Amino acid sequence: MNLISLPGGSLHGTAALPGDKSLSHRAALFAALAEGDSRIENFLVSGVTQAMLDALVVLGVPYELEGTTLTVHGRGLGGLHSPQRPINCGNSATTIRLLAGALAMAGVPAVLDGSAGLRRRPMGRIVDPLQAMGVEIAAAAGCAPLTLGRSPRPLRPLDYDLPVASAQIKTCLLLAALAAGSPTTLREPGPSRDHTERMLRSQGIAVSSEKLVQDGRTLYVTRLTPPYTLAFKPLALSLPGDFSSAAFLIVAALVTPGSSIVLRSVGLNPARTGLLDALLAMGGDICITNPATRSGEPVGDLEVKASRLHATQVGGEQVVRMIDEFPIFAVAAAYSEGVTTVRDAAELRLKESDRIAGLCSELRALGAAAEERPDGFSITGGDLPGGAAVDPHGDHRLAMSLAVAGLAAVKPVSVSGAEIVDESFPEFIPVLQALGARLEQAA
Ligand code: S3P
Repeated sequence: MNLISLPGGSLHGTAALPGDKSLSHRAALFAALAEGDSRIENFLVSGVTQAMLDALVVLGVPYELEGTTLTVHGRGLGGLHSPQRPINCGNSATTIRLLAGALAMAGVPAVLDGSAGLRRRPMGRIVDPLQAMGVEIAAAAGCAPLTLGRSPRPLRPLDYDLPVASAQIKTCLLLAALAAGSPTTLREPGPSRDHTERMLRSQGIAVSSEKLVQDGRTLYVTRLTPPYTLAFKPLALSLPGDFSSAAFLIVAALVTPGSSIVLRSVGLNPARTGLLDALLAMGGDICITNPATRSGEPVGDLEVKASRLHATQVGGEQVVRMIDEFPIFAVAAAYSEGVTTVRDAAELRLKESDRIAGLCSELRALGAAAEERPDGFSITGGDLPGGAAVDPHGDHRLAMSLAVAGLAAVKPVSVSGAEIVDESFPEFIPVLQALGARLEQAA
């Protein structure tokens, strides 16, 4: 499907976002480990979360979905079956990495595989520390498929420096560490999202998070302290709207003249809102109202008005706090006065696509001055000519970002292969259209 965005509209009104992707993955997985029925409202129904649900069914955990309310019939760790065939994790790195940790904890042999794109994502980052804990796991050339055996119990305790700040690695290792029964310490170079820690605490498991300065380096330390039981309690949650999906609407409203929108009940976990800080620093007119807590996570409404943006610099610890938002941030930068620079973000090359290369080449096709760097990019902003067909490189976030770029360009923009948005935000087109954005689909 080609998605054509036409300039000239402005965005008005109120929208609510589908449930958070990271929380949906974790809620479904924790519910599958629990004994009893869990109910999760505002679950994200999308390509990547379907991969998690399908995987859970293959492991013997049934579920029902009514609209966006998910009921999972968990049977406890002992209820997980070792599957006869490989589990297909689709395009979902969160599914494969989190499941690897959960299966290591449960001691359930399985083969975890996925799409050609997923097979290119690095898995050595979970395989090496899992092996150090005594988990039987193999990955040819450090990539999927991952083959898990029946690891001996208890697993060895882990005291580990993560090579990159990553909530997927941290979650995988925390879950596996539950089968060690002794203290586990993980150190990260940045503050990755802490949704898993919050959910573990709500299960009565002692997890601490601390910021430490050691030899001049700032480290984010997560500690898991026994005793803990492997009996997970069923969940009753209502998930916040996904900040990473809200990000597309926020930037669309900022760059489209005359816009004024309200986004209700968006997840505002501080480990996720680096983009807000960047956009506020650029002069974005964004207000948070009605702050509250929903299912253990901070939420609020966002009031966003079209703004004249100016350039900013992003690097260091802010990078992990906006790791999924760089494609849409680059669009904001392309409409800002001055030169915006991103550094310390080499991790972007290892996402659903090489986001540094893809972003720069496609924004250049739209007439922006974008320059690639090994660990980031720089963009000289101004008006965006548009008037081109662009390729999102099979990456949902690139597709949505490029479509937003077209809403304020001089000429229309056509995004090919735009059905990929269904991976994380299937309502992207109707939600934007309802706010007044001029988006058209063509075969
Ligand atoms: C996620 C963590 C991030 C993020 C991904 C979801 C999670 O990945 O990019 O979309 O739910 O834990 P990394 O941990 O690999 O940075």
